[in-house]
Amino acid sequence: VTELQDTIQALAKKKTPDFVKLRKERGQNVIGQVTVEAALLGMKATPLMVCETSMLDPKVGVKYRGYTLKECNEKLPKWGSSKIGLPEAAYWLLLTGEIPTDAQVKALNAELHKREALPESVTSLIDSLSKDIHPMTQLSMGLLALQPNSSFYKKYREGANKADLWKFVLEDSLDLVAKIVPLSARIFRNVFFDGKHIPSDTSLDWSGNYAHMLGVNNDDGFKDITRLYLMLHADHEGGNVSAHTTHLVGSALADPYLSFASGVNGLAGPLHGLANQECLKWLKATKASLGDTEPTVEVMTKFAQDTLAAGKVIPGFGHGALRITDPRYTIQSEFAQENFPEDPLYKLAKVCFQAIPPVLLATGKVKSPWPNVDALSGCCMQNYGLTQEDYYTVIFAVSRALGCTSNLVWSRVMGLPIERPKSVTLDWLLEKSA
Ligand code: MLT
Repeated sequence: VTELQDTIQALAKKKTPDFVKLRKERGQNVIGQVTVEAALLGMKATPLMVCETSMLDPKVGVKYRGYTLKECNEKLPKWGSSKIGLPEAAYWLLLTGEIPTDAQVKALNAELHKREALPESVTSLIDSLSKDIHPMTQLSMGLLALQPNSSFYKKYREGANKADLWKFVLEDSLDLVAKIVPLSARIFRNVFFDGKHIPSDTSLDWSGNYAHMLGVNNDDGFKDITRLYLMLHADHEGGNVSAHTTHLVGSALADPYLSFASGVNGLAGPLHGLANQECLKWLKATKASLGDTEPTVEVMTKFAQDTLAAGKVIPGFGHGALRITDPRYTIQSEFAQENFPEDPLYKLAKVCFQAIPPVLLATGKVKSPWPNVDALSGCCMQNYGLTQEDYYTVIFAVSRALGCTSNLVWSRVMGLPIERPKSVTLDWLLEKSA
């Protein structure tokens, strides 16, 4: 922890002059325009907030501290013979701006294992929940039940120095990232395996252990797809619903448990994280409706045209902020091609990739017709026997804990104030825009 803290502090020191310059000398400079459309349509593409951990280029995809996801996958330390850049190494990168060494990642893993035990109050709450409560709701409840452990909450009440608050956010972030693994695995085993739990294996890495505790497959391939999934979904700059909600709630100095639980609630929305389960459902339903018909590009083109003509949506295509195929899709697709090229759902997804974007483009209404990460992530999990679609967004949340809580650390490092944009009425907009 000391090394992690020192590295964050060193970067903070390096960045302080920039922050001061921006505030004191350039505070009134214009960096964008606020249009009526921005106010009405979700503030899309309006540069209104700061997020240090990652930034998205519409034509390149997200970069974690300047590294594309492809670079992250190549450069981040690996576990044993695995070829996947580790998500906990991505966590270090998001927090510090540096690619960690193997030794630093090993030490971080040991630290996370040390912190992973769940209090009895949390396990008994989770075990008491009815199985028909959606796993995302259970996760949110579990995170809230962990909140009394918050160091930030305690230290703030004791009157800690404002300049030290980020250290307590880091404390909570490490605890939360450590505990979300057994918490999420417990929810999975309660809902789908009658509460038969699998103990943590502390000889494994953070995500390998998560795969192990889920217990659907002992394959190294399942551990690897879990590592890849958790590395790819960790952060997507600050404006997506889960990151922005976590940031907004954190800006009121609510502790990381309260803040991230709020982000998780947003992630549970079908237009955000829940989309991955919707996409898999769509792929499966499409496959079933095709019956014995081979899904060729021609067949899927006609299928997509008919779907749109019937006023239905094709999930998994398009992204509010990307103008290319989501690199997270491409990296997962390369993994699938190498590891399970014959999987029938993957084969169907590949044909969809060829057939659907041209159909969407032809409507003239779609700016971004390319597949996003959700179009394939469920399919990958399904291949390894994780077929419980209702659980998919929880895996997303485990990953997003890395980005959202790193972001909270940096918001406190920078001492960002409470977020409080101005809202206006339609009458005001009519008058102003005339
Ligand atoms: C995400 O990963 O958060 C999603 O792609 C949504 C977004 O970026 O808005």
